[in-house]
Amino acid sequence: MTTLERLFDAARAAQANAYAPYSRFKVGAALMTASGAVFAGCNVENAAYPNGICAESAAIAAMTIAGERRITDIAVVGGDAGPVTPCGACRQRLSEFAEPGARVHFADQSHFVESLLLSDLLPRAFGPRDLDTNG
Ligand code: THU
Repeated sequence: MTTLERLFDAARAAQANAYAPYSRFKVGAALMTASGAVFAGCNVENAAYPNGICAESAAIAAMTIAGERRITDIAVVGGDAGPVTPCGACRQRLSEFAEPGARVHFADQSHFVESLLLSDLLPRAFGPRDLDTNG
């Protein structure tokens, strides 16, 4: 199985368990880390709408629980139509842990569609280095 197949399988399995009764828009995300481990997440909505979390955020939490930090690849699947790109807030969250050259991979329900650099989705990102007072 290729890396992308592993990632999209994990993202689709997570998407199947998404809790999205309000938007009815189920999203699954899967991250690959530098160690080759895969961590998945789904969106988890809430009756108090702003408290819902995105699939990417859930996957980042799963990665963090496992003690991992370095994301190399991100797969996202959502909805019934075309590919879904991470929202602005999740681009920032992903960027916190993204290795240089980290890629975001998109698919519709059946086919891989394209891969983009996270740095192209969030150019000139603010990040940990901006807070590094040691230069
Ligand atoms: N959503 C995600 O989980 N990830 C994305 O990349 C885009 C949007 C969720 C949030 C909300 O539960 C639903 O999709 C509709 O916005």
